[in-house]
Amino acid sequence: MSSPPPYEDLLDYVLIDADRLQKRIAELGKEISEDYRHFEDIVLIGILKGSMLFMTDLMRQLTVPHSVDFMDVTSYGVGVRHSTGDVRILMDLHAPIERRNVLIVEDIVDSGRTLEHVLRLLWARRPASLRVCTLLDKAERREVAVPLDYIGFQIPNVFVFGYGLDIDEYYRNLPFIGVVKPGVVILDEEEGKDDS
Ligand code: IMP
Ligand code: MG
Repeated sequence: MSSPPPYEDLLDYVLIDADRLQKRIAELGKEISEDYRHFEDIVLIGILKGSMLFMTDLMRQLTVPHSVDFMDVTSYGVGVRHSTGDVRILMDLHAPIERRNVLIVEDIVDSGRTLEHVLRLLWARRPASLRVCTLLDKAERREVAVPLDYIGFQIPNVFVFGYGLDIDEYYRNLPFIGVVKPGVVILDEEEGKDDS
């Protein structure tokens, strides 16, 4: 396996810089803390792997007691931009969520199919409440309606990477959200594979 090119080779422009990300996440944290102030217990559920950076920054902004859990799902379809909604659980939650107040933490909602499936799975486990917080919303590409309670940023129909989001598993560590240069081939898409 050859090593991936430096990110500068793939970056068209920075869509959301680190400073804007952190400011918005602080606002989200405040809003969520306010809304949940009377709740005794919340569990944040991060959908791997894209939400890892967002999760760690968001939880540091919460002033309400919460635990965290993670779920890894994958959807096989025509590609990253066309997930079929045929979603499989690769790693399930560690703890039951029955009667608990659950907040799903997502990196990006695109077609909405992954989230729709996760919501269906989690509602079946009878949580007391279930809400969704997504950092990015690519609403233009929505194929199924999904309820989004907290949205960091609305973004246009462009392929983005960084801050948890990958290009073929790399570049998740970048502190900003960047737009991929036109013409960059994303393997995930060719293989018809979508790994969150
Ligand atoms: P959905 O099921 O179409 O909403 O797909 C959501 C998943 O597709 C996300 O969790 C990401 O893994 C992936 N995805 C969608 N758009 C992008 C993007 O612009 N960059 C990186 N991954 C993306
Ligand atoms: Mg991906």
